[in-house]
Amino acid sequence: MNQSMQGAFLPGNSTVELREVAVPEPGHGEVLLRMKASTICGSDIRCIYHEHLGKGPEGYQGVVAGHEPSGQIVAAGPGCRRFGEGDRVVVYHISGCGVCNDCRRGYMISCTSERYRRAYGWQRDGGMAAYLLAEEKDLVALPDELTYADGAQVACGFGTVYEGLRKIGISGDDAVLITGLGPVGLAAAALCRKMGAENIIGIDVIPERLELARKLGLCDVVLPSGPDNAAQVRDLTGGRGVERAIDCSANDGARAAAIRATRKWGRIVFLGEGGRVEFNPSPDIIHDQKTIFGSWVTSTWLMEELVERLVRWNLHPADLITHRFALDQVGEAYRLMGSGRCGKVAVCFDEELGVRSEKLGVRS
Ligand SMILES: NC(=O)c1ccc[n+]([C@@H]2O[C@H](COP(=O)([O-])OP(=O)(O)OC[C@H]3O[C@@H](n4cnc5c(N)ncnc54)[C@H](O)[C@@H]3O)[C@@H](O)[C@H]2O)c1
Ligand SMILES: [Zn+2]
Ligand SMILES: [Zn+2]
Repeated sequence: MNQSMQGAFLPGNSTVELREVAVPEPGHGEVLLRMKASTICGSDIRCIYHEHLGKGPEGYQGVVAGHEPSGQIVAAGPGCRRFGEGDRVVVYHISGCGVCNDCRRGYMISCTSERYRRAYGWQRDGGMAAYLLAEEKDLVALPDELTYADGAQVACGFGTVYEGLRKIGISGDDAVLITGLGPVGLAAAALCRKMGAENIIGIDVIPERLELARKLGLCDVVLPSGPDNAAQVRDLTGGRGVERAIDCSANDGARAAAIRATRKWGRIVFLGEGGRVEFNPSPDIIHDQKTIFGSWVTSTWLMEELVERLVRWNLHPADLITHRFALDQVGEAYRLMGSGRCGKVAVCFDEELGVRSEKLGVRS
Protein backbone atom coordinates (compact mmCIF):
# COMPACT_ATOMS: atom_id res chain seq x y z
CA MET A 1 0.00 0.00 0.00
CA ASN A 2 2.96 2.25 0.77
CA GLN A 3 0.91 4.94 2.43
CA SER A 4 1.10 6.67 5.75
CA MET A 5 -1.48 7.27 8.46
CA GLN A 6 -1.68 8.90 11.84
CA GLY A 7 -1.28 6.83 14.99
CA ALA A 8 -1.84 7.84 18.63
CA PHE A 9 1.11 7.47 21.02
CA LEU A 10 1.07 7.93 24.80
CA PRO A 11 4.22 9.63 26.10
CA GLY A 12 3.14 9.08 29.71
CA ASN A 13 2.46 12.64 30.81
CA SER A 14 -1.35 12.66 30.40
CA THR A 15 -1.15 13.75 26.77
CA VAL A 16 -1.55 11.99 23.43
CA GLU A 17 0.70 12.52 20.39
CA LEU A 18 -0.46 11.86 16.86
CA ARG A 19 2.48 10.75 14.72
CA GLU A 20 2.76 9.83 11.07
CA VAL A 21 3.45 6.10 10.62
CA ALA A 22 3.51 3.77 7.62
CA VAL A 23 0.44 1.68 6.82
CA PRO A 24 1.82 -1.84 7.33
CA GLU A 25 1.68 -4.66 4.79
CA PRO A 26 0.43 -8.04 6.00
CA GLY A 27 3.00 -10.82 5.89
CA HIS A 28 2.46 -14.56 6.18
CA GLY A 29 -0.50 -15.36 8.47
CA GLU A 30 -1.23 -11.68 9.02
CA VAL A 31 -4.09 -9.39 8.06
CA LEU A 32 -4.49 -5.65 7.67
CA LEU A 33 -7.61 -4.28 9.37
CA ARG A 34 -9.39 -1.08 8.57
CA MET A 35 -10.09 0.07 12.12
CA LYS A 36 -13.72 0.81 12.93
CA ALA A 37 -13.82 1.11 16.73
CA SER A 38 -11.08 1.31 19.33
CA THR A 39 -12.18 1.74 22.93
CA ILE A 40 -10.14 2.91 25.94
CA CYS A 41 -9.63 0.64 28.97
CA GLY A 42 -8.95 1.70 32.57
CA SER A 43 -5.60 -0.11 32.28
CA ASP A 44 -4.53 2.28 29.49
CA ILE A 45 -5.10 5.19 31.85
CA ARG A 46 -3.55 3.52 34.90
CA CYS A 47 -0.43 2.04 33.28
CA ILE A 48 0.32 4.21 30.26
CA TYR A 49 -1.50 7.53 29.89
CA HIS A 50 -0.61 9.26 33.18
CA GLU A 51 2.75 7.55 33.54
CA HIS A 52 4.45 4.45 32.22
CA LEU A 53 3.93 2.26 35.25
CA GLY A 54 3.76 -1.19 33.78
CA LYS A 55 6.50 -3.79 33.80
CA GLY A 56 6.73 -6.99 31.76
CA PRO A 57 3.37 -7.73 30.12
CA GLU A 58 2.10 -4.30 31.21
CA GLY A 59 5.18 -2.45 29.94
CA TYR A 60 4.34 0.04 27.17
CA GLN A 61 6.97 0.06 24.48
CA GLY A 62 6.16 3.28 22.63
CA VAL A 63 3.83 1.70 20.07
CA VAL A 64 0.50 2.90 18.63
CA ALA A 65 -1.88 2.71 21.62
CA GLY A 66 -5.22 0.91 21.92
CA HIS A 67 -5.81 -2.68 23.03
CA GLU A 68 -9.53 -2.93 22.26
CA PRO A 69 -9.65 -3.04 18.45
CA SER A 70 -12.40 -4.11 16.11
CA GLY A 71 -12.40 -3.65 12.35
CA GLN A 72 -12.70 -5.11 8.87
CA ILE A 73 -10.04 -7.01 6.98
CA VAL A 74 -8.89 -5.10 3.90
CA ALA A 75 -5.91 -7.28 3.01
CA ALA A 76 -4.84 -10.78 4.01
CA GLY A 77 -1.27 -12.00 3.70
CA PRO A 78 -0.32 -15.38 2.26
CA GLY A 79 -1.06 -18.43 4.39
CA CYS A 80 -4.24 -17.17 6.07
CA ARG A 81 -6.45 -20.18 6.72
CA ARG A 82 -9.79 -18.87 7.91
CA PHE A 83 -10.19 -15.13 7.55
CA GLY A 84 -10.07 -12.99 4.43
CA GLU A 85 -10.85 -9.62 2.91
CA GLY A 86 -14.20 -8.19 4.01
CA ASP A 87 -14.45 -10.19 7.25
CA ARG A 88 -15.54 -8.30 10.37
CA VAL A 89 -13.42 -9.19 13.38
CA VAL A 90 -12.43 -8.48 16.96
CA VAL A 91 -8.76 -8.75 17.92
CA TYR A 92 -7.93 -10.79 21.03
CA HIS A 93 -5.52 -8.23 22.36
CA ILE A 94 -2.45 -10.34 23.05
CA SER A 95 -0.50 -12.10 20.38
CA GLY A 96 1.23 -15.13 21.87
CA CYS A 97 3.80 -17.60 20.63
CA GLY A 98 0.99 -20.06 19.89
CA VAL A 99 2.88 -23.11 21.13
CA CYS A 100 3.46 -22.70 24.89
CA ASN A 101 1.03 -24.36 27.31
CA ASP A 102 -0.87 -21.12 28.01
CA CYS A 103 -1.26 -20.32 24.31
CA ARG A 104 -2.44 -23.87 23.67
CA ARG A 105 -5.17 -23.30 26.25
CA GLY A 106 -6.16 -20.12 24.39
CA TYR A 107 -4.82 -17.88 27.17
CA MET A 108 -2.27 -15.91 25.17
CA ILE A 109 -2.54 -13.29 27.93
CA SER A 110 -0.17 -15.45 29.96
CA CYS A 111 2.01 -16.69 27.08
CA THR A 112 5.38 -17.59 28.56
CA SER A 113 7.50 -16.66 25.56
CA GLU A 114 9.40 -13.46 26.24
CA ARG A 115 10.30 -13.20 22.61
CA TYR A 116 6.90 -13.71 20.99
CA ARG A 117 4.34 -12.44 23.52
CA ARG A 118 3.23 -9.01 22.33
CA ALA A 119 0.05 -7.23 23.44
CA TYR A 120 -1.57 -4.88 20.94
CA GLY A 121 -1.27 -1.29 22.16
CA TRP A 122 1.46 -2.25 24.65
CA GLN A 123 4.32 -4.00 22.85
CA ARG A 124 3.00 -4.00 19.27
CA ASP A 125 0.91 -1.42 17.44
CA GLY A 126 -2.71 -1.20 18.60
CA GLY A 127 -6.00 0.18 17.38
CA MET A 128 -5.59 3.96 17.66
CA ALA A 129 -4.80 4.40 13.94
CA ALA A 130 -6.72 3.98 10.70
CA TYR A 131 -5.19 0.54 10.07
CA LEU A 132 -3.94 -2.29 12.27
CA LEU A 133 -1.70 -5.21 11.44
CA ALA A 134 -2.92 -8.34 13.26
CA GLU A 135 -2.10 -12.02 13.27
CA GLU A 136 -4.89 -14.19 11.90
CA LYS A 137 -4.70 -16.50 14.94
CA ASP A 138 -5.64 -13.54 17.22
CA LEU A 139 -8.94 -12.85 15.43
CA VAL A 140 -12.44 -13.65 16.57
CA ALA A 141 -15.25 -13.41 14.00
CA LEU A 142 -17.72 -10.64 14.79
CA PRO A 143 -21.30 -11.85 14.24
CA ASP A 144 -23.41 -9.76 11.84
CA GLU A 145 -25.77 -8.83 14.68
CA LEU A 146 -23.01 -7.02 16.58
CA THR A 147 -21.49 -3.68 15.62
CA TYR A 148 -17.77 -2.96 15.59
CA ALA A 149 -18.26 -0.85 18.73
CA ASP A 150 -19.81 -3.92 20.39
CA GLY A 151 -16.80 -5.93 19.24
CA ALA A 152 -14.18 -3.48 20.51
CA GLN A 153 -15.45 -3.92 24.04
CA VAL A 154 -15.25 -7.69 23.77
CA ALA A 155 -11.50 -7.40 23.02
CA CYS A 156 -10.74 -6.62 26.67
CA GLY A 157 -13.51 -5.38 28.99
CA PHE A 158 -16.46 -7.69 28.29
CA GLY A 159 -14.13 -10.62 27.62
CA THR A 160 -12.41 -10.10 30.96
CA VAL A 161 -15.70 -9.84 32.82
CA TYR A 162 -17.21 -12.89 31.14
CA GLU A 163 -14.17 -14.95 32.16
CA GLY A 164 -14.41 -13.76 35.77
CA LEU A 165 -18.13 -14.47 35.92
CA ARG A 166 -17.62 -17.95 34.50
CA LYS A 167 -15.12 -18.62 37.28
CA ILE A 168 -17.47 -17.65 40.11
CA GLY A 169 -20.68 -18.78 38.35
CA ILE A 170 -23.66 -16.43 38.18
CA SER A 171 -27.31 -17.43 38.04
CA GLY A 172 -30.78 -16.32 39.08
CA ASP A 173 -29.91 -17.59 42.58
CA ASP A 174 -27.46 -14.81 43.18
CA ALA A 175 -27.49 -11.34 44.62
CA VAL A 176 -24.38 -9.63 43.25
CA LEU A 177 -22.21 -6.78 44.49
CA ILE A 178 -20.05 -4.86 42.03
CA THR A 179 -17.46 -2.49 43.45
CA GLY A 180 -16.32 0.04 40.83
CA LEU A 181 -18.75 1.04 38.08
CA GLY A 182 -16.28 2.02 35.38
CA PRO A 183 -16.71 0.30 32.01
CA VAL A 184 -15.60 -3.03 33.50
CA GLY A 185 -18.04 -2.79 36.43
CA LEU A 186 -20.86 -1.72 34.09
CA ALA A 187 -20.06 -4.67 31.82
CA ALA A 188 -20.21 -6.96 34.87
CA ALA A 189 -23.65 -5.63 35.74
CA ALA A 190 -24.91 -6.04 32.17
CA LEU A 191 -23.66 -9.63 31.92
CA CYS A 192 -24.88 -10.61 35.41
CA ARG A 193 -28.33 -9.36 34.44
CA LYS A 194 -28.38 -11.55 31.35
CA MET A 195 -27.14 -14.52 33.39
CA GLY A 196 -30.20 -14.14 35.60
CA ALA A 197 -29.09 -12.10 38.63
CA GLU A 198 -31.99 -10.08 40.02
CA ASN A 199 -30.48 -8.14 42.89
CA ILE A 200 -27.44 -6.27 41.58
CA ILE A 201 -25.86 -3.70 43.87
CA GLY A 202 -23.20 -1.30 42.55
CA ILE A 203 -20.79 0.99 44.39
CA ASP A 204 -18.63 3.82 43.04
CA VAL A 205 -17.27 7.19 44.10
CA ILE A 206 -18.19 9.09 40.91
CA PRO A 207 -21.81 10.35 40.82
CA GLU A 208 -21.98 10.22 37.00
CA ARG A 209 -21.14 6.51 37.07
CA LEU A 210 -23.69 5.70 39.77
CA GLU A 211 -26.28 7.56 37.73
CA LEU A 212 -25.36 5.74 34.52
CA ALA A 213 -25.66 2.32 36.20
CA ARG A 214 -29.06 3.27 37.54
CA LYS A 215 -30.33 4.94 34.37
CA LEU A 216 -29.36 1.98 32.17
CA GLY A 217 -31.13 -0.37 34.60
CA LEU A 218 -27.90 -2.31 35.14
CA CYS A 219 -27.97 -2.07 38.94
CA ASP A 220 -31.02 -2.38 41.17
CA VAL A 221 -29.37 -0.31 43.88
CA VAL A 222 -26.38 2.01 43.66
CA LEU A 223 -24.46 3.20 46.71
CA PRO A 224 -21.83 5.90 47.00
CA SER A 225 -18.59 4.48 48.32
CA GLY A 226 -18.23 4.77 52.10
CA PRO A 227 -17.10 3.00 55.26
CA ASP A 228 -20.55 1.46 55.84
CA ASN A 229 -20.84 -0.23 52.45
CA ALA A 230 -20.53 -3.81 53.75
CA ALA A 231 -23.25 -3.24 56.37
CA GLN A 232 -25.46 -1.50 53.77
CA VAL A 233 -25.14 -4.46 51.41
CA ARG A 234 -25.97 -6.92 54.19
CA ASP A 235 -29.08 -4.84 54.99
CA LEU A 236 -30.13 -5.08 51.35
CA THR A 237 -29.78 -8.87 51.38
CA GLY A 238 -31.71 -9.97 54.46
CA GLY A 239 -28.69 -9.48 56.73
CA ARG A 240 -26.69 -12.24 54.99
CA GLY A 241 -24.76 -10.51 52.21
CA VAL A 242 -24.48 -11.26 48.51
CA GLU A 243 -23.70 -14.68 47.03
CA ARG A 244 -21.24 -13.17 44.53
CA ALA A 245 -19.04 -10.06 44.52
CA ILE A 246 -16.94 -8.64 41.70
CA ASP A 247 -14.30 -6.03 42.37
CA CYS A 248 -13.73 -3.76 39.39
CA SER A 249 -12.27 -0.84 41.35
CA ALA A 250 -8.82 -2.00 42.49
CA ASN A 251 -9.45 0.11 45.59
CA ASP A 252 -8.27 -1.28 48.95
CA GLY A 253 -11.42 -0.32 50.89
CA ALA A 254 -13.77 -1.42 48.11
CA ARG A 255 -12.06 -4.82 47.84
CA ALA A 256 -12.36 -5.34 51.59
CA ALA A 257 -16.04 -4.33 51.42
CA ALA A 258 -16.60 -6.83 48.60
CA ILE A 259 -15.13 -9.61 50.75
CA ARG A 260 -17.06 -8.63 53.90
CA ALA A 261 -20.37 -8.07 52.11
CA THR A 262 -20.27 -11.61 50.69
CA ARG A 263 -22.23 -14.26 52.60
CA LYS A 264 -21.10 -17.68 53.82
CA TRP A 265 -19.98 -20.01 51.00
CA GLY A 266 -19.94 -17.00 48.65
CA ARG A 267 -17.45 -16.26 45.88
CA ILE A 268 -15.57 -13.09 45.10
CA VAL A 269 -13.60 -12.30 41.97
CA PHE A 270 -10.96 -9.57 41.71
CA LEU A 271 -10.76 -7.96 38.27
CA GLY A 272 -9.48 -4.48 39.19
CA GLU A 273 -5.70 -4.39 38.84
CA GLY A 274 -2.95 -2.86 40.95
CA GLY A 275 -3.15 -1.56 44.49
CA ARG A 276 -3.55 -3.78 47.54
CA VAL A 277 -6.12 -5.05 50.02
CA GLU A 278 -6.09 -5.71 53.73
CA PHE A 279 -8.45 -8.20 55.35
CA ASN A 280 -8.45 -10.67 58.22
CA PRO A 281 -8.40 -14.19 56.81
CA SER A 282 -10.13 -16.01 59.67
CA PRO A 283 -13.26 -13.88 60.15
CA ASP A 284 -13.39 -12.53 56.61
CA ILE A 285 -13.00 -15.70 54.54
CA ILE A 286 -11.93 -18.87 56.35
CA HIS A 287 -14.71 -19.18 58.93
CA ASP A 288 -17.33 -18.21 56.39
CA GLN A 289 -16.03 -20.68 53.78
CA LYS A 290 -15.59 -18.01 51.13
CA THR A 291 -13.44 -18.18 48.00
CA ILE A 292 -11.58 -15.31 46.32
CA PHE A 293 -10.72 -15.73 42.64
CA GLY A 294 -8.32 -13.69 40.53
CA SER A 295 -9.01 -13.45 36.82
CA TRP A 296 -6.85 -12.07 34.03
CA VAL A 297 -8.40 -11.27 30.64
CA THR A 298 -9.78 -14.37 28.89
CA SER A 299 -9.10 -16.98 26.24
CA THR A 300 -9.84 -16.91 22.53
CA TRP A 301 -12.37 -19.74 22.84
CA LEU A 302 -14.31 -18.03 25.63
CA MET A 303 -14.30 -14.83 23.59
CA GLU A 304 -15.89 -16.76 20.72
CA GLU A 305 -18.48 -18.09 23.14
CA LEU A 306 -19.13 -14.59 24.47
CA VAL A 307 -19.91 -13.05 21.07
CA GLU A 308 -22.36 -15.90 20.45
CA ARG A 309 -24.04 -15.27 23.82
CA LEU A 310 -24.21 -11.51 23.21
CA VAL A 311 -26.28 -12.19 20.10
CA ARG A 312 -28.51 -14.69 21.91
CA TRP A 313 -29.04 -12.28 24.80
CA ASN A 314 -29.49 -9.25 22.50
CA LEU A 315 -26.88 -7.52 24.63
CA HIS A 316 -24.97 -4.71 22.96
CA PRO A 317 -21.79 -3.62 24.77
CA ALA A 318 -21.86 -0.44 22.66
CA ASP A 319 -24.76 0.75 24.82
CA LEU A 320 -22.16 1.52 27.50
CA ILE A 321 -20.33 3.95 25.19
CA THR A 322 -21.22 7.49 26.21
CA HIS A 323 -18.70 9.30 24.01
CA ARG A 324 -17.30 8.69 20.52
CA PHE A 325 -14.39 10.64 19.04
CA ALA A 326 -12.65 10.79 15.67
CA LEU A 327 -8.94 9.95 15.73
CA ASP A 328 -7.95 13.62 15.46
CA GLN A 329 -9.72 14.20 18.80
CA VAL A 330 -8.03 11.25 20.49
CA GLY A 331 -6.44 13.50 23.14
CA GLU A 332 -9.88 14.55 24.30
CA ALA A 333 -10.97 10.90 24.41
CA TYR A 334 -8.16 9.89 26.81
CA ARG A 335 -8.63 13.03 28.90
CA LEU A 336 -12.32 12.24 29.39
CA MET A 337 -11.68 8.56 30.23
CA GLY A 338 -9.02 9.74 32.68
CA SER A 339 -11.58 11.98 34.41
CA GLY A 340 -13.98 9.08 34.97
CA ARG A 341 -16.98 11.31 34.28
CA CYS A 342 -18.23 9.06 31.50
CA GLY A 343 -19.15 5.52 30.54
CA LYS A 344 -17.01 3.82 27.91
CA VAL A 345 -15.06 6.11 25.57
CA ALA A 346 -14.40 5.10 21.97
CA VAL A 347 -12.34 6.33 19.05
CA CYS A 348 -14.34 5.49 15.95
CA PHE A 349 -13.94 5.42 12.18
CA ASP A 350 -16.30 5.47 9.19
CA GLU A 351 -19.86 4.29 9.96
CA GLU A 352 -19.13 3.93 13.70
CA LEU A 353 -18.47 7.63 14.13
CA GLY A 354 -21.46 9.67 15.21
CA VAL A 355 -23.62 6.65 16.04
CA ARG A 356 -26.15 7.65 18.60
CA SER A 357 -26.71 5.52 21.66
CA GLU A 358 -30.48 5.16 21.84
CA LYS A 359 -30.52 3.92 25.40
CA LEU A 360 -28.36 6.71 26.72
CA GLY A 361 -29.93 9.33 24.49
CA VAL A 362 -26.68 11.23 24.26
CA ARG A 363 -25.00 12.36 21.10
CA SER A 364 -21.26 12.15 21.49
N1 LIG B 1 -8.29 -8.47 35.32
C1 LIG B 1 -8.16 -8.07 34.07
O1 LIG B 1 -7.80 -8.85 33.19
C2 LIG B 1 -8.49 -6.67 33.70
C3 LIG B 1 -8.82 -6.33 32.38
C4 LIG B 1 -9.22 -5.04 32.09
C5 LIG B 1 -9.23 -4.08 33.08
N2 LIG B 1 -8.82 -4.43 34.34
C6 LIG B 1 -8.83 -3.49 35.46
O2 LIG B 1 -10.18 -3.38 35.89
C7 LIG B 1 -10.35 -2.13 36.54
C8 LIG B 1 -11.58 -1.44 35.99
O3 LIG B 1 -11.39 -1.08 34.63
P1 LIG B 1 -12.23 0.14 34.03
O4 LIG B 1 -11.90 0.24 32.59
O5 LIG B 1 -13.65 0.04 34.43
O6 LIG B 1 -11.47 1.32 34.82
P2 LIG B 1 -11.97 2.60 35.61
O7 LIG B 1 -10.74 3.15 36.26
O8 LIG B 1 -12.73 3.47 34.70
O9 LIG B 1 -12.95 2.05 36.74
C9 LIG B 1 -12.65 1.92 38.08
C10 LIG B 1 -13.82 2.45 38.87
O10 LIG B 1 -13.62 2.18 40.26
C11 LIG B 1 -14.11 3.27 40.98
N3 LIG B 1 -13.62 3.32 42.35
C12 LIG B 1 -12.47 3.85 42.82
N4 LIG B 1 -12.43 3.78 44.16
C13 LIG B 1 -13.58 3.19 44.55
C14 LIG B 1 -14.13 2.84 45.81
N5 LIG B 1 -13.47 3.11 46.96
N6 LIG B 1 -15.33 2.24 45.84
C15 LIG B 1 -15.99 1.98 44.70
N7 LIG B 1 -15.53 2.30 43.48
C16 LIG B 1 -14.34 2.89 43.40
C17 LIG B 1 -13.67 4.46 40.13
O11 LIG B 1 -14.40 5.63 40.47
C18 LIG B 1 -13.98 3.96 38.73
O12 LIG B 1 -15.28 4.29 38.30
C19 LIG B 1 -9.03 -1.38 36.34
O13 LIG B 1 -8.25 -1.57 37.51
C20 LIG B 1 -8.41 -2.08 35.18
O14 LIG B 1 -7.00 -1.94 35.17
C21 LIG B 1 -8.48 -5.70 34.66
ZN1 LIG C 1 -7.86 -3.68 29.08
ZN1 LIG D 1 2.79 -18.73 24.19
